[in-house]
Amino acid sequence: MTAIADSGVASEAPAEPYYLPTGDEVRIFEQCHARHLAVMLKGPTGCGKTRFVEHMAWRLRRPLITVSCHDDLTASDLIGRFLIRHDGTQWQDGPLTRAVRQGAICYLDEVVEARQDTVVVLHPLTDYRRLLPIDKTGEHVEAAPGFQLVVSYNPGYQRMLKDLKPSTRQRFVALDFDFPPAERERAIVEREGGADHATAHALVSLGNRLRALQDRGLAEVPSTRLLIASARLIASGIPVRQACYAALVSPLSDDASLAGAMRDLVDATFV
Ligand SMILES: Nc1ncnc2c1ncn2[C@@H]1O[C@H](COP(=O)(O)OP(=O)(O)O)[C@@H](O)[C@H]1O
Ligand SMILES: [Mg+2]
Repeated sequence: MTAIADSGVASEAPAEPYYLPTGDEVRIFEQCHARHLAVMLKGPTGCGKTRFVEHMAWRLRRPLITVSCHDDLTASDLIGRFLIRHDGTQWQDGPLTRAVRQGAICYLDEVVEARQDTVVVLHPLTDYRRLLPIDKTGEHVEAAPGFQLVVSYNPGYQRMLKDLKPSTRQRFVALDFDFPPAERERAIVEREGGADHATAHALVSLGNRLRALQDRGLAEVPSTRLLIASARLIASGIPVRQACYAALVSPLSDDASLAGAMRDLVDATFV
């Protein structure tokens, strides 16, 4: 009976998810949490939004329930549904309902991907009511203390096609994210990618040069995540340029002339 406790595994606190802040985001998020304000994280792909939420959930000692949004996501996927079993039907909570009951942080990643009628179910949770009405059971679940709604989205991506309704946006405090300043991004690439100082430094300056190609039609610029992937390949023994072509250049563009321009920048960085 004591085997689990004695092993130390069960009682061990989860490790802190590494997050290097770039501004006041930790303090602002903590205040939002304490004051029951929903938070929206805006910023490009791979700049640290998900890692930030993981870190904040750890800091605030709250469970984290993450939902990746997509255009087939229905309100029932969030709230729950009746399951048919051999002995009748049974209600099963969806991830949002579980978070509301447990007082967890519910993180809806890429919320603009979800349909409007799905997003609307969040509204009563974001005001003073903090209520989740479950139409199918007639239940009104009041959010447990500690429940917080967090959504993320990438404003540059598909901006014309999809956007959040103003009535939805106004329910959130927005935190703007971007790629970290060079010195911080270097520290992140070094730590997360296992690169040495000089390699991490070179990868970040390459990343910033590649980001400047956005004006030349590069739809998505290299993220911190891609710089880390390159660093990992390099650390595993793949030659530097080859690692950069595979992890940085190819994922970003199929256009031959753009890819050529990017490879030239790689070659100029790692001569
Ligand atoms: N400020 C940061 N501190 C620590 N790691 C970071 C930071 N920003 C980015 N990262 C690293 O970059 C990776 C991608 O970030 P992620 O949070 O998944 O991006 P997003 O959710 O914005 O697409 C993370 O797994 C982490 O390794
Ligand atoms: Mg993410």
